[in-house]
Amino acid sequence: MEQALDERRAVWTRYWSQGATHSCGGSFGSRYEGALAQFWRGAFATLAPGARVLDIATGNGALPQLLVDFDPQGQIACDAIDLATLAPAWFDALPPARRAQLRFHGQQAAEALPFADASVDMVISQYGLEYTDLARTVPELLRVCKPDGQVRLVCHHAEARPVQLAHTELAHLDWLTAPEGMLDTALGMIGPVARAATEQGRAALAQDTAAQAVRERFNTLQDALAAQAAGSNCPDVLVEVRQALATILNMAMRDGAASAQAALAALRAQLADAALRLAELRDYALDADAAAQLGRTLAGAEGTLALAPILEQDVLMGWAISVQRAAAHT
Ligand SMILES: C[S@@+](CC[C@H](N)C(=O)[O-])C[C@H]1O[C@@H](n2cnc3c(N)ncnc32)[C@H](O)[C@@H]1O
Repeated sequence: MEQALDERRAVWTRYWSQGATHSCGGSFGSRYEGALAQFWRGAFATLAPGARVLDIATGNGALPQLLVDFDPQGQIACDAIDLATLAPAWFDALPPARRAQLRFHGQQAAEALPFADASVDMVISQYGLEYTDLARTVPELLRVCKPDGQVRLVCHHAEARPVQLAHTELAHLDWLTAPEGMLDTALGMIGPVARAATEQGRAALAQDTAAQAVRERFNTLQDALAAQAAGSNCPDVLVEVRQALATILNMAMRDGAASAQAALAALRAQLADAALRLAELRDYALDADAAAQLGRTLAGAEGTLALAPILEQDVLMGWAISVQRAAAHT
């Protein structure tokens, strides 16, 4: 269990270290826009100066970035936590006075929050809370949230576009990395391609039936890849891997087998990371019952709950969950 957590932390840390501001690569530019940004601006508009926000599973701080845009005077303070080590370049680029408004807490699991009871006016999370152990995180979140505070979430929806794309991309990754599949066959190609750099090597290859069989298999798989990509509404992984393999085989010819083998190992590791992130997206998405149950648990008997699908230009992007906890009893 602990090992699985360490692996998840390492995978997400590598992802954020590459500089992404959020995890919806294909859907937005460098920050969330449209309906999602509108949902968050609506949430922030309910906060009074001096309010304190907590962002759970913040990543590189896509929501704090929206908050900073919304609140240029820095009147709302924000703590942002994540299991991973974070690298929010946009935050480092802020003037020091603006940075004082925000505090990032990397390597901080949501299941045990380092904040006092009833110290937060609004807990927020986007594509984040559902990645945590809800049985432990929800009580923690309710502990730190003021009794009359709010919880605002955007969660993955089991039928939403990002989740459907994750299913497709995982199938593509499985196909690419299957034993004796595209990557294994490309590995088998590296030696022959490196030998083909010299005339003597090419002459030897002409007699090498094993090398010829690998080449034939590689060509067959290339055709199969092209056919799959042409028939897919989401061919990005296939296309990127095809390009990466072409680069690696060029490298074998130019720099020799060892460099190309190292590049292929790095590509395999990148794909394993992507597969873990996509499997999480698929597995942590909430269906209608799970979203309703989460909302009701957060609202408790006395709070109010608004739960609705959130759409971006007619495309289903997730669940929007808004909870107003009960007013404090005097
Ligand atoms: C899909 S990303 C979302 C990041 C960000 N909210 C966004 O919208 O771009 C999910 C994040 O959840 C974090 N995470 C997963 N389990 C966690 C946990 N138990 N506690 C805190 N963060 C966690 C991961 O490290 C990852 O950064």
